[in-house]
Amino acid sequence: MRQVNVALGSRSYQVYIGDGLLAQTGSYLRERRFADRLVVIADTAVKKLYGAKLVGELESCGFQVSILEVPAGEEHKSLDSAGRLYQELTAVNAERMTPILALGGGVIGDLAGFVAATYQRGVPLVQIPTTLLAQVDSSVGGKVAVDHGQLKNMVGAFYQPEMVIADIGTLKSLPEEELVNGLAEVIKSAAIRSDSFFSFLEENIDRIKSLDAGILEQVVFESLKIKAGVVAEDERDTGLRHILNYGHTIGHAVESVSDFEIKHGKAVAIGMVAAARIANKLGMLDDSEVERLKQLIEQAGLPTKLPEIGVEKVMLAMQHDKKVQAGKARFVLLNKIGDVVVTDEVTPSLIKEVLTRNEPA
Ligand SMILES: NC(=O)c1ccc[n+]([C@@H]2O[C@H](COP(=O)([O-])OP(=O)(O)OC[C@H]3O[C@@H](n4cnc5c(N)ncnc54)[C@H](O)[C@@H]3O)[C@@H](O)[C@H]2O)c1
Ligand SMILES: [Zn+2]
Repeated sequence: MRQVNVALGSRSYQVYIGDGLLAQTGSYLRERRFADRLVVIADTAVKKLYGAKLVGELESCGFQVSILEVPAGEEHKSLDSAGRLYQELTAVNAERMTPILALGGGVIGDLAGFVAATYQRGVPLVQIPTTLLAQVDSSVGGKVAVDHGQLKNMVGAFYQPEMVIADIGTLKSLPEEELVNGLAEVIKSAAIRSDSFFSFLEENIDRIKSLDAGILEQVVFESLKIKAGVVAEDERDTGLRHILNYGHTIGHAVESVSDFEIKHGKAVAIGMVAAARIANKLGMLDDSEVERLKQLIEQAGLPTKLPEIGVEKVMLAMQHDKKVQAGKARFVLLNKIGDVVVTDEVTPSLIKEVLTRNEPA
């Protein structure tokens, strides 16, 4: 088991990372003197896989547990779902000190987190992420939200959990596509902050893909150390935290033009390679480093090129992005693997050129 501390003063918390940690949840909660009544929120699929196991473990530690269920899928990360959960929380007599345990991927983490932030003006939150994406990214940092209208994460808050328990063992049941999706954020973390972690990924990509528990534990640990370090310096996303958006400026546009058919991880992978080629054209990132990034992304099973969805549409979608200020898209660019700058000086014509030619550097 490894631990990462998210250092946020009086709101600091621990992330526990290890194989089989679901079985430790009760004792971790007891150590922190949590209230005897708990509510678990899970999606239907995750509840079926791990709900009974978690509830049984908590009950054996003397907790009284209710489990609430939400259908799986991004379309349920909504105010409607939140509204239904508020009613169900009331029905099970959840009170101000009743912790909510978010058991699942990023959708449940964001939705249950949003509900925890708002129900009775905020109840304690514990994140128990079960996808690679949620373990390396969404469960840490305190961004909670629901989608609204056509816009993702439109309504939300910054609300830090009391604790995060990442059981690597739960990744064994994850569909390959979801594992690969999470790998995009892992590669992103290494690319922006750590050449040595990037080399580790290059050396171990096959063992990662074959779900070697020891290697996965290290991957989640290293990724979270990077995320926790950035969040500790810029909790509210006013400066440094922007670097976590590497590959996301183009990535978000690709996602939305494809009507979310292209999953987030794949879109970010395309965005990371495009941003690397932009940096290369600006004389920042060497050819060999662009090639390293491209190769690792390919070996992870992620795309490196924009599919036939229309460069013009992607350009237009970028203009609507949250990260666009005064009409200029903000880009995170690599100087080298492990080192980035944030700039709004990338011209639309350069973006277009890189996306249109869509070729290796
Ligand atoms: N808050 C943040 O900082 C942050 C960061 C990145 C992404 N996000 C959000 O995260 C969401 C995406 O999260 P996600 O990719 O985890 O998707 P998800 O929560 O939809 O999970 C993907 C699928 O995997 C299933 N699943 C989950 N755990 C499983 C397991 N162990 N075994 C088998 N199946 C399992 C789920 O039922 C679901 O069908 C998006 O809504 C995104 O906006 C938030
Ligand atoms: Zn992302």
